[in-house]
Amino acid sequence: MTEQKLGVCYYPEHWPVARWAEDARRMREIGLSVVRVGEFAWSRLEPSLGTYDFVWLRRAIDTLHEAGLEVVLGTPTATPPKWLVDSMPGMLALDTQGRPRKFGSRRHYCFSHAGYARECERIVTRLAQEFGAHPAVAAWQTDNEFGCHDTVESYSEAALAGFRDWCRGKYEAIETLNEAWGNVFWSMELASFEEIELPNLTVTEANPSHLLDFQRFSSDQVVAFNKRQADIVRRYSPGRPILHNFMGAFTAFDHFALSRDLDAAAWDSYPLGFLERSPNSEAFKSRYMRVGDPDFQAFHHDLYRGCGRGRWWVMEQQPGPVNWAPWNPAPAKGAVRLWAHEAFAAGAETVCYFRWRQAPFAQEQMHEALLLPNSEPNEAFHEAQDVARELAALSAHVGRRRAEVVVVFDYESDWAWKIQPQGQDFSYSELVMRFYRALRRAGVSIDIGPPTADTVADRKLILLPGLFTAGESLVEGLSNSAAVILAGPRAGSKTEHFNIPAALPPGALQSLIDLRVRRVESLRPGAIIPMSDGHPGHFERWREFLVLGDEAAIAMASRDGECALAQCGHRYYLGGWPDETLADAVVSRLLAEAGVETLRLPQDIRVRDNGGLRYVFNYGPETADISSLVGDAWLLLGETKLPPCGVAAFRKDSLTEK
Ligand code: GAL
Repeated sequence: MTEQKLGVCYYPEHWPVARWAEDARRMREIGLSVVRVGEFAWSRLEPSLGTYDFVWLRRAIDTLHEAGLEVVLGTPTATPPKWLVDSMPGMLALDTQGRPRKFGSRRHYCFSHAGYARECERIVTRLAQEFGAHPAVAAWQTDNEFGCHDTVESYSEAALAGFRDWCRGKYEAIETLNEAWGNVFWSMELASFEEIELPNLTVTEANPSHLLDFQRFSSDQVVAFNKRQADIVRRYSPGRPILHNFMGAFTAFDHFALSRDLDAAAWDSYPLGFLERSPNSEAFKSRYMRVGDPDFQAFHHDLYRGCGRGRWWVMEQQPGPVNWAPWNPAPAKGAVRLWAHEAFAAGAETVCYFRWRQAPFAQEQMHEALLLPNSEPNEAFHEAQDVARELAALSAHVGRRRAEVVVVFDYESDWAWKIQPQGQDFSYSELVMRFYRALRRAGVSIDIGPPTADTVADRKLILLPGLFTAGESLVEGLSNSAAVILAGPRAGSKTEHFNIPAALPPGALQSLIDLRVRRVESLRPGAIIPMSDGHPGHFERWREFLVLGDEAAIAMASRDGECALAQCGHRYYLGGWPDETLADAVVSRLLAEAGVETLRLPQDIRVRDNGGLRYVFNYGPETADISSLVGDAWLLLGETKLPPCGVAAFRKDSLTEK
């Protein structure tokens, strides 16, 4: 049995002490058991250099503890106080234009600044010494949303010095760097590591190899920043899991790499805010404006479960309208409940709502919470209570298993295609989503993992869309695999130094799929490459011209006679960006070949298996009849006429036993 918990984010420093006990009592009353505190409280924990005040936080944690609540304690390093910034102004990050990112909001620091790193070590050490053994402290959160507000990259002196060192460590000799980057081009050759500049403020585009290495360096700085904190917390608070709250649609550092220093991953899920900000069509946004994209949350649940090596949470869950999207609609009745169940179905250990009470002051006063500013319950308060009650009936049946289908997700590929899209709308994340959605529409449960042998081991179907370069471990894993494999478009099309492979794309993947890509073209909106007769769908945005070797055959051709889908035994290469119809057709064909069970789902219905349970979710505006999915299985939750935002759950074995 897996324990599933509900929680909330709470800011005791925003409210009079007299209210804390009543808040804690009400949290318990509605079935919450976890409370995150502290992650922005540095100015209250250390009002001036070396003057600590832990009394109030101890009192708050004690109060929560007395009510039977567990605490997740956040380190406050996302919000360095004014006295600290004034004492070392060089700690501010500089933007691409070289301008300081000033005090007055949050995340105003440069990951490379050694002085700020020392300050963080100091406050984290004090906090961990003070609270590490407190019986209520059940977990830790490092910092808050690394990279939020575009803060991974900094163009400061500290970053420049750090980048030069990083390049020296990687290449050892400047000639090797010149060769790897191709610096003979445009006379960019350098005589020493001290001549390396940051890739901003260049006249036209900087060298893609330079840009990619700078992104790798910036990512490594975030990883190192987090590790320093995790090491300290582990020393003073052993046995408590350390988490970080990642974001949605955010890829500027390698989350798999950072997660190696965590015990579990977490992310902050704001379905309506993310939908409004997304590149989806207006029609799509209107259809789902109050319930969210049926696949976006699920994708991130799978991604962060992969990051956390099976262990993950939702650290912040949208409770009502937020304040930061272009438009901020209210969730449909039941949506807040549905989002929590979708997370638990994907294996979340804990879902925490953001936040307990709406703050009447400062930047987020328009962001709703479980309570109104005057402490009256908001809609989400009641829905959280419903979920807490329902979990009791479901927890006994869940327990994640390795999925038969895996999508390889690679942060470097996203950086690479942002650096060199070649077609304005070539977005790696959108490409991966195109395949992910097709899998979800087929009713399949999915894992997501980094490009390693481990990710691809023991699967039935492996998808590698847009993978920039195929490293040795991955290629070896793929060559040992009996799974059906789909690579492309653009997979293996560069070396790790961002050059075209000597044998042409798909580079190292040629050992698996016998073909060469001789030409690529990007397509303006509206330009399409239809498939040949009998095959629905088309390529859009991107297409490739494939030259097949002796072992490859055409599995699908485009109407103009080119190979669209190449096949080498159980391995396939897709030479273009499929529209939804083509993605569905290709994915269905491969799922059938791989022997993976698929389901025929109504448009807005999604399904997820977890251990012995099958969950069904209705993201649509109408009641859906799901009786054919349920058969005469016993429903633990929901009904076969599933209303909008409805959730049903039943034991799968009661289906198959019949
Ligand atoms: C998150 C952040 C929270 C809060 C929230 C508002 O990005 O971690 O501190 O700002 O968004 O939706």
